[in-house]
Amino acid sequence: MNIESIRRDFDVFKKYVYLNTAVFSPLPKITIESIERYLSIRKYGITEIDEEDIINGARENLAKIMNASCSEIAFTLNTGHGLNIVANGIDFEKDDNVIVVDSDFPSVVYPFLNKGIEIRYIKSREGVFSLRDFEKVIDDKTRVVAVSHVQFTSGYRANIRELVKIAHEHDAITIIDVAQSLGAVNVDVKDWNVDVVVGIGYKWLMSPTGVGFLYVKEERFSDIKPSLPGWASVVDSDDFSTRSLNYFDDARKYETGNLCLSCIVGLNESLRYVGRLGMCNVEERILELSRYVIKRLEEFENVFVYTPKDKCERAGIVFFKFSGIDSSKVVEELKKYSIIVSERRGGIRVSTHFYNTQEDIDKMFSIIDQIM
Ligand SMILES: Cc1ncc(COP(=O)(O)O)c(C=O)c1O
Repeated sequence: MNIESIRRDFDVFKKYVYLNTAVFSPLPKITIESIERYLSIRKYGITEIDEEDIINGARENLAKIMNASCSEIAFTLNTGHGLNIVANGIDFEKDDNVIVVDSDFPSVVYPFLNKGIEIRYIKSREGVFSLRDFEKVIDDKTRVVAVSHVQFTSGYRANIRELVKIAHEHDAITIIDVAQSLGAVNVDVKDWNVDVVVGIGYKWLMSPTGVGFLYVKEERFSDIKPSLPGWASVVDSDDFSTRSLNYFDDARKYETGNLCLSCIVGLNESLRYVGRLGMCNVEERILELSRYVIKRLEEFENVFVYTPKDKCERAGIVFFKFSGIDSSKVVEELKKYSIIVSERRGGIRVSTHFYNTQEDIDKMFSIIDQIM
């Protein structure tokens, strides 16, 4: 990877030490240009736009990056939207239960709380948990196990293949939120044998906000009914019939209507960019950078690092707290030097993507050293 040339693809580094991809990634220049090109054609209405071509192109690249089939991918607005489509599409029985992690991202849990069914919480330390705890609480009334692949605070990366095995012994539907992992580390839905995956592109896939996605394994189509039907969900959308509801027999049945095409154009351009770099190279670089953040933290005696050291158990996020020091003050102080990180749940979250360097990390630690 030629890092100097990569950094020239992003304007952000002219102004900031950006260590905050877990919130929003900066957009590559080519992604912004492709959106501008699309918008400039929109001045002619629909005349010069092939909507299907745009959507199918992005669907294909999205399917490729997670080893899915195009027919198993639906576009959504965001992760929470995808999770609600799924939660509302399952016919829950009164005594069913759903298993979640206690400190997971709220949108992974709320759609099931909203259904009024029993929620069983796996206890975690800021999102670091053990799969053995799932074995202890799961039973034949567990309909869903919903977990983030990479936890938004600790950055803990769960072994999804093992989790799916545990869930499938009880025929539970597995729903995995990949908002903090797709584009950072390898996601392979076939290898995982997972039922549902939800996510967005505005973090590790460097796309605009306004587009998310839903993967549903074909064998689970009948267990998850479309819950938000609209003209885009049906095969005969061109005849504008209001007398019948002939859903697509693929994941398009979960789509409702027109999508944010400019967002999809941007997503696709960024997917192509990541494709050129190669997901394996991206993952390797990210794991090296998060390892370096953890190594630098070992120089401090008053720090607790929540993110596991094992590279199989982390991705691009490192989360830590200094004892006796207010994390939000550290984040504010770093910002004065144009170094961008986040405060989450009383700790500091640093997130490094392939475009970051050890030098970025060293700059952050030089200011932290001054604060200590
Ligand atoms: C694990 C996880 N899921 C989802 C989201 C975002 O949800 P949405 O795409 O619905 O805005 C975040 C954002 O921080 C996240 O960390």
